[in-house]
Amino acid sequence: MYPSWYKVQQLPIMAIISSCTASTLKDAATSLRSGNLVAFPTETVYGLGVDATNKDAVAYLYQVKGRPSDHPVIVHISSMINLDKWTREIPEYAIELAHTFWPGPMTLILPRTNLAKDFITGDQDSVGIRVPSHPLASALLREFEGQGGLGVAAPSANRFGKVSPTTAKAVVEELSDYLSATDLILDDGPCQVGVESTIINCTENIPEILRPGAITAAMISNLVGLQVIQMASGSNKSSIKAPGLLQSHYAPRAKVFLSTTPNSGDGFIALSDISTPPGAIRLASPKDNNEYAQLLYQALRLADTKQLPNVIVIPPTGDDLAIAICDRLEKCAYKI
Ligand code: TXA
Ligand code: MG
Repeated sequence: MYPSWYKVQQLPIMAIISSCTASTLKDAATSLRSGNLVAFPTETVYGLGVDATNKDAVAYLYQVKGRPSDHPVIVHISSMINLDKWTREIPEYAIELAHTFWPGPMTLILPRTNLAKDFITGDQDSVGIRVPSHPLASALLREFEGQGGLGVAAPSANRFGKVSPTTAKAVVEELSDYLSATDLILDDGPCQVGVESTIINCTENIPEILRPGAITAAMISNLVGLQVIQMASGSNKSSIKAPGLLQSHYAPRAKVFLSTTPNSGDGFIALSDISTPPGAIRLASPKDNNEYAQLLYQALRLADTKQLPNVIVIPPTGDDLAIAICDRLEKCAYKI
């Protein structure tokens, strides 16, 4: 049952399934319906799923993540058909976005229906919805809905404030001390995008990016013909609770410094055309910004595995995934 990379150091506590079949997916969906947690891959990062209508199960999810109860979670559904179960008064531009970028790495914040209870929205009148494109995530959601489920709440499968996992091994490192025997981790290798979905506030007349991701401001405004508001890091002018506004978010144990010169023994992350300064320990050499996003969280985790005190990161530039990468780096960078 355990994949080759998993070293059972203590009593096995949760099941890890490496080659999912129709039958294991069915069991995983049934397990979700019974109130258990199922971690699963999406194209962005691994999510920690729970039945979004089950109050006790969501409370357990928050406990496992160590997350404050006023911090909302995203509801995952298998297709846009289920959108109006959870949301109402969907603006025209949001429908266009959903038609174009779903399934995919985009979350829409929309006015909620009564189905979206305070325990998933953090008491707000909006709910975050996403239709992921990862085949395993889609299949799990379809099976869950086939069994009568309405949506799977799934934050990134890490402890609150820490680096999101992009492999099942990283989920185990983050959560094995907190999950129980009835919980499951579905393993389907590394995530393709590597940083979390673009979150777009669609409760106003104009779309507002609350968290940048693979769906960029240019892609959104080109499609809907509206100017997009980009929420500046740290400025929360709207009443909406935006992600990553805490002092430290997406952070490894190592201190992260941006664009400084490493000392001997420091970790180093930069695009492959930037050479490693003498004495620094190279953690990733992505060839372009897409690969940078894919490898970033794994590289930050590697710094902790190697017990490095500091990591120096040279952020990428550009108006593509570079914006999301820089957003996460600013949030995890060491603040004096
Ligand atoms: O790529 C992703 O979005 C991943 C995968 C698993 O889908 N999920 C993810 O979830 O990153 P999480 O909970 O780690 O981050 C979602 C962020 C939260 O920080 C929360 O602030 C924001 O989404 N959010 C959720 N519902 C919201 C709402 N109604 N209004 C404002 N922000 C919301
Ligand atoms: Mg998260």
